[in-house]
Amino acid sequence: MCGIVAYIGHREAYPVILKGLKRLEYRGYDSAGIALLNSGLKVYKKKGKVAKLEESLQGKDLHASIGIGHTRWATHGEPSDRNAHPHLSSSGRFAMIHNGIIENYAQLKQDLISKGYVFHSDTDTEVLLNFIEDIQKNNNCILEEAVRIALKRVIGAYVIVLIDQENPDTLIAARKGSPLVIGVGKNEHFLASDASPIIEYTKEVVYVNDYEVAIIKPDELILKNLGNERQTPFITKLDMELAAIEKGGYDHFMLKEIFEQPQTIYDCLRGRLDANAGTITMSGIDKFAEQLVNARRIVMVACGTSWHAGLVAEYIFEELCRTNVEVEYASEFRYRNPVVCEGDVIIAISQSGETADTLVAIETAKTNGAIIMGIVNVVGSSIARASHTGAYTHAGPEIGVASTKAFTAQLAVLTMIALKLGYKKGTLDQQRYLQLLKELESIPEKVAALLQNTEHIKRLAEKYKDSQDFLFLGRGYNFPVALEGALKLKEISYIHAEGYPAAEMKHGPIALVDETLPVVFIATKDSYHEKVISNMQEIKARKGKVIAVINEGDDLSASLADDVIVVPEADEIVAPMLSTVPLQLLAYYVGVAKGLDVDKPRNLAKSVTVE
Ligand code: F6R
Repeated sequence: MCGIVAYIGHREAYPVILKGLKRLEYRGYDSAGIALLNSGLKVYKKKGKVAKLEESLQGKDLHASIGIGHTRWATHGEPSDRNAHPHLSSSGRFAMIHNGIIENYAQLKQDLISKGYVFHSDTDTEVLLNFIEDIQKNNNCILEEAVRIALKRVIGAYVIVLIDQENPDTLIAARKGSPLVIGVGKNEHFLASDASPIIEYTKEVVYVNDYEVAIIKPDELILKNLGNERQTPFITKLDMELAAIEKGGYDHFMLKEIFEQPQTIYDCLRGRLDANAGTITMSGIDKFAEQLVNARRIVMVACGTSWHAGLVAEYIFEELCRTNVEVEYASEFRYRNPVVCEGDVIIAISQSGETADTLVAIETAKTNGAIIMGIVNVVGSSIARASHTGAYTHAGPEIGVASTKAFTAQLAVLTMIALKLGYKKGTLDQQRYLQLLKELESIPEKVAALLQNTEHIKRLAEKYKDSQDFLFLGRGYNFPVALEGALKLKEISYIHAEGYPAAEMKHGPIALVDETLPVVFIATKDSYHEKVISNMQEIKARKGKVIAVINEGDDLSASLADDVIVVPEADEIVAPMLSTVPLQLLAYYVGVAKGLDVDKPRNLAKSVTVE
């Protein structure tokens, strides 16, 4: 989390950095700041969103062609002006921005305080900056060298970018664990946490690797490792259009991204699935097909919404491939000394490809001989690069903080993999395989159909927006959908919501049910349908308000429900891609009805690069 932007070149740095920060605001929006170097080094920072910083800078002389900017998601120290980045070093010579966490900051801070350093913030960033300055002074060396020496002693994750008042034509940057992209222009360079601030200026980018230090001048980019050896910058062409990161007429990115799903699911299937030919082509899977088919077990590791995609996939893989599947919170998996053996396959699912817990989980598993497969949306991201193989979800940039289109694309990719493996393994017969290919192929069209009419969901949002709590219930493939519906609602509307297996409800949560509690049932026609109807009756008997997501013609469910949302019918294996969509819309419209900032819900960040 935290977004960083920097510029050096022939343009005015301020507008480039400001626009970049707005694009990266999804990474954190507790405070924002900019440092510009012209005749002197000036730092401006403000608690709150980037717009507040912009407002406070009206009328100021911001002329400079080198600068750094930051939008913060607080880790060490509350959101405030003083904890906002950039920070200035003790002498005022260096300014620095940082994304990540310095774990041994307390010890470093103690040492620096004993040397007389005074701190003006509660951040680990200011500690690292003064540590670098201390090394620079003691060794009387150039900044680049001080950074290299300092980083060898630092424990944690970071992207840092520094400006040196005495070297106004150079930026120094370094990375370990957190993402850093450098855009290469003509006599100019752009630095950012992801490519979105860079895309309108250049499509040529360099993804900086862990433990690399970049020395950046307008017309030169040098990469070195911490041992001072030159590394070759590998220039990649960005495959992304500017329109993909703009709102395109929608009120919010979240709404745009929900409505993009027919296209994003189609893009995900395109060139891979051919239902007529009966084929699924995924080169990353083909390369490891033998190992995957013979896997002793598959462990899915992920967080949040991506973890929910893993849970849906568990049901699908076990059904179609008859392989033992476990689904793990990456954060728990990595810390508990998990038993991982050679032959295990770890599937890491991540939209951003930067989630720290997921990244470390796969590194742990890798050292124990597992094969790592990354199901990732952001091309070139850390998880994609740390995996042995994998498949991109091709959902395009997801800017709304709540994950929507990335989730359905993850389901599409995971379903294709399960179909491929099941068929190859012989646990899925040809007739069912061909039928499921057709079912999957029809999903984009069915999502488009359900998005034709969303007015009734808006009305439901108005009706239930003042509820204190919500329960989401589903069974089988729709149980993780219930979890996802609850997560979406709580993060966007701040209403307390719980997702539960519908049958489990009677073992506790049923105590919550009264006439004020809306209970959302995901009750599409599948092998659990009759049982779900019984659970609905149990809620009705206790006067709960039932909102049911059902298929057309399901009169029995409709008669039990206070409100219904109808989704097109589909095979249960692919149905979660449909039943999730109205729940995303419900959360969105409740958030809007309550006047909340749905694209940037409080306390959240899109890319969680801290543990
Ligand atoms: C919820 C949401 C989060 C993410 C989680 C993992 O809407 O977006 O729960 O799913 O932080 O992020 P990725 O998928 O980027 O690893």
